Amino acid sequence: PDFLHLGEKLLNWYGTNSRDLPWRKTKDPYKIWICEILLQQTQVKQGLNHYLRFVERFPDVKSLAEAHEDEVLLYWKGLGYYSRALNLHKASKQIMQDFDGNFPDDYESILSLKGVGKYTAAAIASIAFDLKYPAVDGNFYRVLSRLFADNFDISNAKAFQYFSELALLMMPEHQFGDFNEAMMDLGSEICKPKNPICVACPLNEDCLAFQSGTVNEFPLKTKK
Ligand code: ADE
Repeated sequence: PDFLHLGEKLLNWYGTNSRDLPWRKTKDPYKIWICEILLQQTQVKQGLNHYLRFVERFPDVKSLAEAHEDEVLLYWKGLGYYSRALNLHKASKQIMQDFDGNFPDDYESILSLKGVGKYTAAAIASIAFDLKYPAVDGNFYRVLSRLFADNFDISNAKAFQYFSELALLMMPEHQFGDFNEAMMDLGSEICKPKNPICVACPLNEDCLAFQSGTVNEFPLKTKK
């Protein structure tokens, strides 16, 4: 397949179909970080108001680092997975100490922050700093498995590496953050786990699963 052509098509689609979300109006790495941590285990609709309240009360690294832990937790109330809030708080102090209060701007340093894994580091690096890292999550697994009718088992420990390489083949040499957010939108709005809306998909002509009527057989997952 012409991987790059698929990536360009996806970007084109995103140009006119991107969801209008508050964190997409900013390049502030701090706000993008907060949003990506929040959206790890929370749906966009469920997390939107918490995000807005959180960044209003803690608008930058310093205000978060100086806050009392109890108040940070209060602003996370209702979202669950409270270790996310505790890690945000710890990492904000880490940024004050190790990076002079400036949000780190390279992938490895971002990855070194407490609570930031490979997915989140890639999302921040690409969206805030225009660095070429695919933000591979379950959406990527599903979209790419279907697109290429690929039987790679997503419960395999190597799935992240495998789909990262596939995503890199598709990623155009521009708009790295947009590419990642386009995959997120495609995965959540069109290429959904159940009842995907293939008629509306910008890649349906190229999708090997759709073309062979096997969309529901992908992604392959052998273990829970
Ligand atoms: N889920 C995780 N990150 C996201 C983002 N930046 N936009 C929309 N959904 C997301």
